[in-house]
Amino acid sequence: MKSFAISQQKGGVGKTTNTINIAGALAHRGHQVLAIDADPQGYLTNTLGFREAYQSDPPSLYDAIKTPHDHDAADLVVAHAEFDVLPANIDMFQLEQDLIASGRRPRQRFGDVLDQLQDYDYVLIDAPPSLGPINDNVLLAAEDIIIPVEADDSSVLAIEHLLNQIESLERGYDVDIRERAILISNVNYPLDNEQADAIAWFEDTFDGRAPVFEVRNRAAIKRSLGAGGSIFGEDAEETDMTTVYDDVAATLEEVEG
Ligand SMILES: Nc1ncnc2c1ncn2[C@@H]1O[C@H](COP(=O)(O)OP(=O)(O)O)[C@@H](O)[C@H]1O
Ligand SMILES: [Mg+2]
Repeated sequence: MKSFAISQQKGGVGKTTNTINIAGALAHRGHQVLAIDADPQGYLTNTLGFREAYQSDPPSLYDAIKTPHDHDAADLVVAHAEFDVLPANIDMFQLEQDLIASGRRPRQRFGDVLDQLQDYDYVLIDAPPSLGPINDNVLLAAEDIIIPVEADDSSVLAIEHLLNQIESLERGYDVDIRERAILISNVNYPLDNEQADAIAWFEDTFDGRAPVFEVRNRAAIKRSLGAGGSIFGEDAEETDMTTVYDDVAATLEEVEG
C-alpha cells in the first residue's frame, strides 16, 4: 500500500478536486484505491454522496483517529462507484483541539489508522486547509505529499510556509517527507502576468525535486464533481484533463513503496 497526502493549508486550491480525480485516475488504471477525507468540513465526503456517513453517530473516522486501537478503520469504509471512501464526520471539528490537548506525538494516530488499511494499492488523503495537528498527522503518516497550488502570488507564499512546516516535522520526528507532485490547479488561459510568474516560480522551485503538472480550469471537472464523481467516472463527459490526471497517476506508480 502506498499513501499520499494531498495537502496545502489554503482553502480552495483544489485539494479535494485533485484527490477525487487522482483517485479516479488510479482506479481507472486498475488499482484498488481508497480516498480518506481528513477535512472536518467533509467536502470530499459530501461531494461523493456520503452525506449520511458525514452526519452519522459514532464510531466514525473521528473515533478511529482518537483511539485507533479500539477501532478498525476498514469497518468505516464505504463504496463509491469508482473507488472506496473513508468518510469524514462532523465530529472531526473537535479533532484539532483533542490532538493539541493530548500532547501526544501525533505520528501514531493516523499512522495506526493507515496500518489498518493495507489491502489497498493506493490511499489518498484529502488534508484540511490548515497547518494544524490534523495536517501534521496526515503528513507524518503518509510521508509522501502531493501539493495543489493555484497560479497566483498567495499560493507562492503558502508554499513557502508549507515547506517550512514540512522541514520542521522532518527535524522534529526524524522522517523524510517527499514532494511527489505539484499540481497547479484551475489554470486559466491566456495566462496573465501573475499566473505566468507563479507557474515559472513553481517550475523553478521544484526543478529536479518533483514534477509540476498544470490542470486547466474545465467545466467538465466541476460538472463531474456535481454528479458525485471524477472525470474518469462512467457517465462523465469527455475532457482533455484526463490525460493530465493519467500522467499524475503514472508518476505516482513510479514512487517506491
Ligand atoms: N481544474 C478545475 N476546473 C474547474 N473547477 C475547479 C478546478 N479545480 C478546482 N475547481 C473548483 O474550485 C473550487 C475549490 O476546489 P477544492 O478542490 O474544493 O479546493 P480545496 O479542497 O483546496 O478547498 C471547487 O469549487 C472546485 O470545483
Ligand atoms: Mg477541500
